[in-house]
Amino acid sequence: MKGQDNKTTIKISEVSTLQSSTYKLSTAGFNDQQLKKLNGIIGRDIFCTNTSITDDNLLVCYNDYISADNSAGSSVKSEWGQTRDGFEGRLKTAKYKLAGLSRSISMTLNKHSGTNYCDLGSGDGSMGVVFAEEYKLKPIFMDINNYLDKSIISNVNFEAFDPSKDITSSLKYGIISCFHILHHIDSLEDIKARLLNIYDLLMPDGVLICREHDVSDPTTYSFVSYLHIAYEIKELTIPPDRYKEYLDNYRLCLMSIGELASLACACGFKVVGCTRPIGFDHSYYILFQKI
Ligand SMILES: C[S@@+](CC[C@H](N)C(=O)[O-])C[C@H]1O[C@@H](n2cnc3c(N)ncnc32)[C@H](O)[C@@H]1O
Repeated sequence: MKGQDNKTTIKISEVSTLQSSTYKLSTAGFNDQQLKKLNGIIGRDIFCTNTSITDDNLLVCYNDYISADNSAGSSVKSEWGQTRDGFEGRLKTAKYKLAGLSRSISMTLNKHSGTNYCDLGSGDGSMGVVFAEEYKLKPIFMDINNYLDKSIISNVNFEAFDPSKDITSSLKYGIISCFHILHHIDSLEDIKARLLNIYDLLMPDGVLICREHDVSDPTTYSFVSYLHIAYEIKELTIPPDRYKEYLDNYRLCLMSIGELASLACACGFKVVGCTRPIGFDHSYYILFQKI
C-alpha cells in the first residue's frame, strides 16, 4: 500500500539564490540521537569522542579505520553497498522506501507503465528492480561504476557512463529515476547539465523521479555530510597512502527542495508532486515532468 498523500508546497519564488556549499562542516548542534546514528554506521567510537570534528581529526579517524582493516584493496573505489545488508535485505528496504511515494506521484508514474525506464545511478540495483516491477517498466540500469548485485548482474541491461559527459541513448524513456544520485554530482552547474541531459532522454511527457535529501540549514548540512562520510569510511577499499587523496576529492552537492525544484524548472521541468522529508537523512521524493 502506498503512503498517505503528503504533498509539500514548494514556493519556488522564494528561492532567489542557490546556497549549496556555503556551509562549513561542524558537529555543533547535533543531538545525541544523531551522534549515535553516525556511530552506529561505522560501529566505532569515532564521532562521539570528538565533539567538534575538523577535517584533520576526521582524517585521523579514517586512517585508524583503514589500518584496522586488513582487507584494504588496491584501488580508490567504493564497494558501494557491499558492507550493508545482503541483497534480499536491500530489496526489502527498497520496497519500504518506495512505499513512501505519495498517491498522486504513484498515479502519474502508473500512466507510464510499459515504457522504457532508466535507473540512473543504479548502485546495487535494489531500488531499480523494485521500482520497475511495481510500475511494470522495461528497465535499463546506468551508473558510473557497475555496483549491481552479483545475483542480478547477468540478467539485466547495464550501461556505465562517464560523469563528465552527456549520456546518449537510442531509446527514449517514459521514466528516469535518480534515487540519491544528484547530490553525488560535483556542483550545481553539473547537476543542471545532467538535468538537461535527462530532459533530452525522456519521451515528450516523460517524468523524472528523484529521491534526495532536503538540506536547508547548517546543522542538517553537516549531519547529512557526515552521514555520507561515515558510509564512505565503512565501504571504501583503498590503500592507506591514497585515503587523503580520496577524501580531498570527495564532493557532495546537497540542496534544499526549493533549490532542486528551481534548478529542474530552469531546465524545462514542472513539479508534479513532492513528499515530506522524513527520517534522519531528510529524504524525500520529488516528481518532475517535461513541459
Ligand atoms: C547512495 S548510492 C544510490 C544508489 C541507488 N540509486 C539506491 O538508491 O540504492 C549513490 C550512487 O551514485 C552514483 N554516483 C556517484 N557519482 C555520480 C555521478 N556523478 N553521476 C551519477 N551517479 C553517480 C554512485 O556510483 C552510486 O551508485
